[in-house]
Amino acid sequence: MSIIDKAEKHVIMITGVLLGVFVFSILYAQAKYSTDVPECLPYDKAYTEPKVNKLDEKTYQVFAVAQMWSFQPSEIYIPVGSEVDFYLSSKDVVHGFNISQKNINMMAVYGNINKTTVKFDEPGVYEIVCHEYCGAGHQNMKAQVIVNYPTAKK
Ligand code: CUA
Repeated sequence: MSIIDKAEKHVIMITGVLLGVFVFSILYAQAKYSTDVPECLPYDKAYTEPKVNKLDEKTYQVFAVAQMWSFQPSEIYIPVGSEVDFYLSSKDVVHGFNISQKNINMMAVYGNINKTTVKFDEPGVYEIVCHEYCGAGHQNMKAQVIVNYPTAKK
């Protein structure tokens, strides 16, 4: 006779099924919305200087730095079809980093680097907003990704 109670077996089974549903949901969302699952990188000071690096015609790196109450760089010009790796850090308190049109939701945390990759297939202006309350100027804390090939500025 098994030493595991029948009810306990049920609970283990249900837990397994639920976990499967959660993992499936993440993979499904990632595939359907081509959303990159953000990662947390080891702290590296090199990412804390605001910068836009052009790796090639359609590949960019953005070192985004959040600080009360702005993002640097505040305007990011890229051509249509670009893939952008965002490396996000904070100089002070915890900030949010939300690009709602792209389903991007990250936190900027002092001493951490968070990374996600976004593909911009449509021309337009994509608002980056801080969606974590960070003090008196929180509501003014925003930046823009300007996707407008071929008239994108350098
Ligand atoms: Cu930064 Cu709210």
